[in-house]
Amino acid sequence: MAQINDNFLKLKAGYLFPEIGRRVSAFTEANPDKAASLIRCGIGDVTEPLPLAVREAMHKAVDELGNRDTFRGYGPEQGYDFLRNAVADNFYQDLPLTAADIFISDGSKCDTGNILDIFGPGNKIAVTDPVYPVYVDTNVMIGNTGEADEDGRYEGLVYLPCTAENNFVPALPAEKVDIIYLCYPNNPTGASATRDQLKAWVDYAIENDSIILYDAAYEAFIQDSEVPRSIYEIEGAEKCALEFRSFSKNGGFTGVRCGFIAIPETVTGASSTGERISIKSLWSRRTSTKFNGASYPVQRGAEAIFSEAGKAQVSALVEHYMGNAALLREACTEIGLSVFGGENAPYVWVACPEGLTSWDMFDKMLNDANVVITPGSGFGAAGEGYFRISAFNSRENVIEVCNRLKKHL
Ligand code: MLT
Repeated sequence: MAQINDNFLKLKAGYLFPEIGRRVSAFTEANPDKAASLIRCGIGDVTEPLPLAVREAMHKAVDELGNRDTFRGYGPEQGYDFLRNAVADNFYQDLPLTAADIFISDGSKCDTGNILDIFGPGNKIAVTDPVYPVYVDTNVMIGNTGEADEDGRYEGLVYLPCTAENNFVPALPAEKVDIIYLCYPNNPTGASATRDQLKAWVDYAIENDSIILYDAAYEAFIQDSEVPRSIYEIEGAEKCALEFRSFSKNGGFTGVRCGFIAIPETVTGASSTGERISIKSLWSRRTSTKFNGASYPVQRGAEAIFSEAGKAQVSALVEHYMGNAALLREACTEIGLSVFGGENAPYVWVACPEGLTSWDMFDKMLNDANVVITPGSGFGAAGEGYFRISAFNSRENVIEVCNRLKKHL
């Protein structure tokens, strides 16, 4: 008899976004007349077409694959040098990283989950609350937690509350932890972390010999020049942090799939005998065994994001989505709701009207306003009483969402 991985049985219900999808399908089946005017501001999925520079590069790459002289088969598992160099030159210029520290992948969701392959059991793991659910669920799947309590908090994880009081940047844990997940600009709260706040985390990690898994998937949306774009802008981070980045939200690659992890040579972990081992060498080994690289046309498309035309087209996309975020912030503020985020991130995090839980708010928005939002409690117990509105949409839809918010709240 084949035994299953029992850890999967500890997972709470469905993954958040498919669960929302199920509820929305049930609603549209019951209300077919409302399906056409439903506006989805739930999952943070881009809506605008791929930049022209990206499309041109991908077309060209496909044509190369159609010609015997320029055809390519398996690529390097860690990514083509042209893209690793472009990433290092554009994102990490003047920072202590080189192209050899960049590992190209099919996106940050996979990377943040897969990274657990190289860490052993018994690590004390800290996550923020609310949190991007992938960090928690992948730790559950691999057996790093016990069961969940009635609030959905898993035994064995250290939860770091992110609240309006701490501007959604958690205080350092009182206890020693080995691995810390941080995501800034933050999903779901849209908060950003200051240089001093990140410095405190880097100092903590160095002092406690911990590793920070820093998810910077929303870096492109930072508007404030004081906000760090990379953890490696913080002195010492090259000794204790891995950085996850994605082309999903800046270049519109949610369907195309491409991202990367930066892993400096100087980040190490301990083997069971206490020997220090380079995390980069383990990840490289893991990648060679389990991955054959992102596809060639996709990597050429990602490279085009760094061309002059690509940069201009990406900034127009960012400007579009951040314009949406500003409108959503304005509408929620006008109604008298407490609004957070949306200034350096494409997510607006809003306190529910008095007396409504996050799922009450989800139902109200769906039934009354015909708009899909994400309930804050879906991201963790500390998200209860909030909802998230994604700014990834057309301008027309966002204006309509603002009107409906004003009408129904
Ligand atoms: C979200 O809505 O939180 C994101 O789209 C999820 C993701 O990027 O995987």
